Amino acid sequence: MADIVWTFEVLANNFDLAGSASQVAKSRLKQLSLPTELIRRIVISMYEGEINMVIHADGGIATLTVTPTEIIVVLKDTGKGIENVELALKEGYTTADSQIRELGFGAGMGLPNMKKYSDNLVIDTEINVGTTITMTFKLNKK
Ligand SMILES: Nc1ncnc2c1ncn2[C@@H]1O[C@H](COP(=O)(O)OP(=O)(O)OP(=O)(O)O)[C@@H](O)[C@H]1O
Ligand SMILES: [Mg+2]
Repeated sequence: MADIVWTFEVLANNFDLAGSASQVAKSRLKQLSLPTELIRRIVISMYEGEINMVIHADGGIATLTVTPTEIIVVLKDTGKGIENVELALKEGYTTADSQIRELGFGAGMGLPNMKKYSDNLVIDTEINVGTTITMTFKLNKK
């Protein structure tokens, strides 16, 4: 069977639309009758990455690919990049300002959760060039 590929544009600074790509992905994944627990891990991870592109970058593109063996979520932006990836992956680390925190973001839990809920997480980032995050979720995991 051919791979299924969905692409979503994530707009910068749009808090009304923030999270909508992962919501659409959720309903489409449900139609594929994937395990509920797997869908939950994918949607939480994609949501966190989507929000990060809204609050820390200038928006970006989210792509979700379903293959017979795995689901791959790629979040690509051309934002400011992540200065220290190791630090960014630590629970509680955030560079969010008070304005962002008032909106309920900035607990520093997004990337740690993406790492926890995906089977593999790769962060490719360059200062002032952008960040591409690739998360893989295995199907039929034993
Ligand atoms: N796409 C991105 N572009 C630039 N910096 C990013 C990006 N994603 C994450 N970061 C940096 O990594 C830090 C940690 O991200 P993480 O998602 O864990 O926490 P947060 O977004 O600050 O808070 P939370 O996700 O809990 O709302 C961010 O504060 C930011 O400095
Ligand atoms: Mg975050």
